[in-house]
Amino acid sequence: METLTVDLPGRSYDILIEKGLLSRAGELCRHALPQAKKLFVVTDTNVAPLYLERVTAQLEAAGFQTASYAVPAGEGAKCVEQLNELWERMMAFGLTRTDAVAALGGGVVGDLAGFAAATVLRGVDFVQLPTTLLAQVDSSVGGKVAIDLKAGKNLAGCFWQPRLVLMDPNTLDTLPLSTFMEGMAEVVKYGCIKDGEFFAYLEERPSREALMEGIEYILYICCNIKRMVVELDERDTGERMLLNFGHTLGHAYELAGHYTQWSHGDAVAAGMCAAAHLGERLGITPAGTAERLEKVLSALGLPTRILCSPEQYGAAIGLDKKGSGSTISVILLEELGRAVRHPMDKQVLLEELR
Ligand SMILES: NC(=O)c1ccc[n+]([C@@H]2O[C@H](COP(=O)([O-])OP(=O)(O)OC[C@H]3O[C@@H](n4cnc5c(N)ncnc54)[C@H](O)[C@@H]3O)[C@@H](O)[C@H]2O)c1
Repeated sequence: METLTVDLPGRSYDILIEKGLLSRAGELCRHALPQAKKLFVVTDTNVAPLYLERVTAQLEAAGFQTASYAVPAGEGAKCVEQLNELWERMMAFGLTRTDAVAALGGGVVGDLAGFAAATVLRGVDFVQLPTTLLAQVDSSVGGKVAIDLKAGKNLAGCFWQPRLVLMDPNTLDTLPLSTFMEGMAEVVKYGCIKDGEFFAYLEERPSREALMEGIEYILYICCNIKRMVVELDERDTGERMLLNFGHTLGHAYELAGHYTQWSHGDAVAAGMCAAAHLGERLGITPAGTAERLEKVLSALGLPTRILCSPEQYGAAIGLDKKGSGSTISVILLEELGRAVRHPMDKQVLLEELR
């Protein structure tokens, strides 16, 4: 089993990675939550028929009394109505401050259940059992939890670190190919920003089958990078911003596709390519970098270019918002494996993107 410890003052926790680990969920959660008697399991309607019974049986065998609730699958569940539903169900279950919440699912379940845990009874412990590639390499680690508002995504939330992150790569076998590849956009991102050797490793594995052969190593490398970045900058004011490589321009593409045409992973993939081209034009990124990146992403079936209007770029970089400042930190690559924050005038950036 691969083990990583996220070392934060008073809130350290382990990330455990191993194929088949869900079958040990009971004993591992018991170890992380020695005081809890009740465990409220949050999942979604796709994940519940696949894994819920197995997990709750494990938890009960380890002495937890459990209740569960499956929110409707999809981003729409990250809303105040579902949050309220969870609070009420947790109270009806008799959850106390020494009990805990488990998030079994993708990033939607993790963000929603984590925010419910952070707020119910002024905060109870929670554990993450992520079941998508995106949740395993990204959203389950780092303690950002949130719901969406009409005004935008993730606008109500907080930092609430889990007590344990337990990932079983076997759960990825049931993911649709497109959902798996969406997560791969984030995996490639880690190679780009922090680990050139890892990027080369991914270049040699251009299929789901090849990637799954080395999945424990892949999860370990990605979680280790996220761990380091979170330890340096838990509250997202400096180093953690490097994780946004490809995301600002990706936001423009999500806008361009009205959040339906392009998935988040698609948008990030094209956003990383646009950022690599931009870096090359500015003389910061070595020539040929964008080409290597495009090759890896194309092999995984991810888009490398998405058309979008100057207005959409403007909205994504905050040019349309009064008082948002005239400069923006763009994340660029000094080489594959090393990202930097590059402050740019928004108007100049917009001209470059045209
Ligand atoms: N907190 C953070 O730091 C952070 C970071 C990145 C993204 N996020 C959030 O994560 C969310 C996206 O996460 P996601 O991509 O995991 O989406 P998701 O949770 O919606 O999961 C994607 C789909 O896969 C299904 N699914 C999940 N596990 C499955 C499995 N093992 N087998 C079959 N189907 C399965 C889900 O039901 C859903 O339909 C967004 O809301 C985003 O804002 C949070």
